[in-house]
Amino acid sequence: MIKTIALDQEGYFVLENGVRLTEEFTGRQMLQAFQLDSYGVIHMSLQGEDYILECFDQPYVARQIHLEENCLFVQMPYQFKQEVDLNSLCLDHWDRFHGLTVSGIPFVLSRPAQAELLNSASAFTDDSITILGQTLSTPPYYLDSNPVREAQFWSERYQENPSPGWNLEKAHPELVSALPQLKLHKSRVLVPGCGYGHDAALLAEAGHKVTAVDVSEEALQGARQRYGHLENIQWLQADIFQLGDEYHGAFDMIFEHTCYCAIHPDDREKLFKVYRNYLVETGHLLGIFFVVPKRSGPYFGSSEWELQNQLEKRFRFLYWTRLKHSPDWRQGAELMIYAQLKGL
Ligand SMILES: C[S@@+](CC[C@H](N)C(=O)[O-])C[C@H]1O[C@@H](n2cnc3c(N)ncnc32)[C@H](O)[C@@H]1O
Repeated sequence: MIKTIALDQEGYFVLENGVRLTEEFTGRQMLQAFQLDSYGVIHMSLQGEDYILECFDQPYVARQIHLEENCLFVQMPYQFKQEVDLNSLCLDHWDRFHGLTVSGIPFVLSRPAQAELLNSASAFTDDSITILGQTLSTPPYYLDSNPVREAQFWSERYQENPSPGWNLEKAHPELVSALPQLKLHKSRVLVPGCGYGHDAALLAEAGHKVTAVDVSEEALQGARQRYGHLENIQWLQADIFQLGDEYHGAFDMIFEHTCYCAIHPDDREKLFKVYRNYLVETGHLLGIFFVVPKRSGPYFGSSEWELQNQLEKRFRFLYWTRLKHSPDWRQGAELMIYAQLKGL
């Protein structure tokens, strides 16, 4: 099993007993040892052991900023100070500043650090900030590099590679183990962005009435080839944002796995809004989300902070856990949330 260490909302390490690590020297040594892999997962090598970091927000949460000799520094917990790559500043959906340290580790500014930065700026607009005599652009956190809103984009991915990187060729192992524990009544389940339908098929085999939706014809062809024999699945080629009125209030549960990371990040709020509309008043969302600081996509990353802020308006959380048995590279990168609609 992988070794993991959690970081809380303010960027402090959380020990196994749930208590915050407060010892400054150790905390500094640990923050210093962060490395980002190509999937966006943060590792830390300490005394010959490799750990994966489970960060609630960005790996570094700056408590203060310092402007010194034409450089910007961020100061994290444990008095750990790092220089900022000035060209990396960007703003998230909530207007929080993010960026990279010169060693390439992502950070976010806490509220006080953000206030300090804005106070020390000679000017700032919606898309730039002037500090240290330089006007720096502050683009949106998520990068808009691929036309993910177009069905053709997805069809081309399946045409290029009939076994795309996301295809596990089986249901997600954590869905397999969670399903019996949830003790669901026979439910009407929506699976958005179902791909080749492995998760949808598992849910149907467990007796649920499943509607599996994908925008790509190629994905659904692959799903029908594999699971076309199952009777209680409806395969629907459609954009998840545009299911007809007959699907409003039509589901007891939505199982979300790799749809949130595939859609355009600007549409994430809208996605949870349509999920709410498709659910019955007491409906549930079961989701497996990538929580890594990955700005371009697909897959686009996210964080526990982001998901909490996106979901809490409409859902109350019943279960919230980092997964310990994710497949392959996804180890340490996945979060499972089970949540119920708050009601209208
Ligand atoms: C990363 S893949 C994941 C597929 C599947 N869930 C899996 O894990 O194998 C994302 C899937 O979402 C589909 N998709 C993307 N945008 C969509 C949308 N707006 N509506 C429905 N499906 C969408 C894509 O065609 C693709 O099959």
